[in-house]
Amino acid sequence: MNRTTRQALGAVLLAAAFSAHAQVDQVKVWAAACANCHGTNGHAQPGMEALAGKNADDMTKTLLDFKAGRKPATIMHQLAKGYTDDELRAIAAYFAAQKKP
Ligand code: HEC
Repeated sequence: MNRTTRQALGAVLLAAAFSAHAQVDQVKVWAAACANCHGTNGHAQPGMEALAGKNADDMTKTLLDFKAGRKPATIMHQLAKGYTDDELRAIAAYFAAQKKP
């Protein structure tokens, strides 16, 4: 690998690292909006649905069902409408990756 290639590759990797970082931070901002009810990082108080460590696919499906009105809810159907499907997927993946309390 010559010097220019190496530098170019370095720049690409750096950019990837930065954007991955920005992505995580954005997810944290979204997840913070859930903390009031579901607890910090999905560690809910007793009686409230804990999200940490749940299956990401199941959670995504539940959130998309809320959004589409397929799953009856008191509040989640309204909240879920505030996010795109991809954002809901990212939020579900974030909570799934948190350790169970
Ligand atoms: C104002 C309180 C509140 C906030 C904020 C909130 N939720 Fe909920 N969540 C609820 C309630 C209440 C339920 C039970 C369903 C219902 O009545 O809407 C629920 C249910 C859920 C469920 C289904 C749990 C299960 O297995 O049945 C998921 C998943 C969920 N919420 C994810 C989220 C995510 C992700 C966010 C942030 C984007 C969020 N919630 C923000 C109150 C809240």
